[in-house]
Amino acid sequence: MTSTRSATSRDSIAERLEEARHRTLQLIEPLSDEQLNRVYSPPLSPLIWDLGHIANFEELWLVQTVGGREPLREDLGRFYDAIENPRRTRGELPILGAGEVRSYLEAVRERALEVLDGVDLDRAGDPLLDAGFVYEMLIAHEHQHTETMLQLLQMIERYEPVEVDPRPAAEPVVEGPEMVFVEAGESEVGAAPLGFAYDNERPRHSVELEGFWIDRTPVTNEAYLRFIEETGADPPMYWERDGAGGWLRAAMGRPEPIDPRQPVVHVSWYEAEAFAGWAGKRLPSEPEWEVACAGADPTRANLDQLAFGTAAAGAYADRPADCGAVQMLGDVWEWTSSDFEPYPGFEPFPYPEYSQVFFGDGYKVLRGGAWATRRAVIRPSFRNWDLPQRRQLFAGLRCAKDALSR
Ligand SMILES: [Fe+2]
Repeated sequence: MTSTRSATSRDSIAERLEEARHRTLQLIEPLSDEQLNRVYSPPLSPLIWDLGHIANFEELWLVQTVGGREPLREDLGRFYDAIENPRRTRGELPILGAGEVRSYLEAVRERALEVLDGVDLDRAGDPLLDAGFVYEMLIAHEHQHTETMLQLLQMIERYEPVEVDPRPAAEPVVEGPEMVFVEAGESEVGAAPLGFAYDNERPRHSVELEGFWIDRTPVTNEAYLRFIEETGADPPMYWERDGAGGWLRAAMGRPEPIDPRQPVVHVSWYEAEAFAGWAGKRLPSEPEWEVACAGADPTRANLDQLAFGTAAAGAYADRPADCGAVQMLGDVWEWTSSDFEPYPGFEPFPYPEYSQVFFGDGYKVLRGGAWATRRAVIRPSFRNWDLPQRRQLFAGLRCAKDALSR
């Protein structure tokens, strides 16, 4: 029984590693070497760095740590360490060129699969291998890097995706109340002890919340436009004047009219907070967001990247969260009012640089995933965090309000 289970999970791991790689390579397929090497924006690495880092991280964990083997090139590790090399410095590192990085990706993968073939996935007492943790972490890591790569692809003139899924754009929109109510009470938040989750999602614990209102849909371009017109606030990233008093959206170097029904995206936490105040509301706290998300269905959500854009606000209304909110998962990350802090009883695993070094350092939590997030990455307990001034993230918002204020 045990050996059959190992064989099955081994095959499934190998398949999912390959599937993750397929997407990575598909996203960069239309690009020239020059585009891979170019620094488009200081908060983002050149794509060539991401590629080398994906391979190097895989080598570190799946070849060196799990397999006990030597690295292919001892010198590469320090250039691809995400903590040692802040994004703004990555354009100047003596890293692998476009051809070399492709062979390095392949060579590491070959070795990682050899190690996987011989590894005992049921080895008791090894938390790194238990339930395939380190493999799940590596698959998620590559998935998460493809989202960062998509942030940069938004800046590339005339980027033509190889594959586009038109279904999210065609999802019917259902009208409903502006806000839905979440009853007061005690709820559990965080990831359950079993199954893959990051250290920062654990331990699962209970929170006591007052009743609150939350927007049924993410905030739309239409509402955001009223906000900037009334307050003189800056438009979201990628908006530009159309020359006739209106606005265009020019992601991927393709100016298009602003669709008023789409969720607003590419706003900073400061802008989200200002919008909420202008609307007479506030951002939800992180626990409020997670409790409101209960019952949301990740299979009926605009996730997985290939839509290359959002679905209109009010889509996927056939499978709302239990409170009646729609699109809690997918479309746009939603800024919360909360700082990125450890849950009570947090323990770093498997390394402090994943979450611990970011706690309490001015990072704000985002929830729910965006169209650019792989479906396999997202779960209601998943916590994303970033600096409040960042705008290149696929981030929008939905507002909340105290029970008594309505
Ligand atoms: Fe990384």
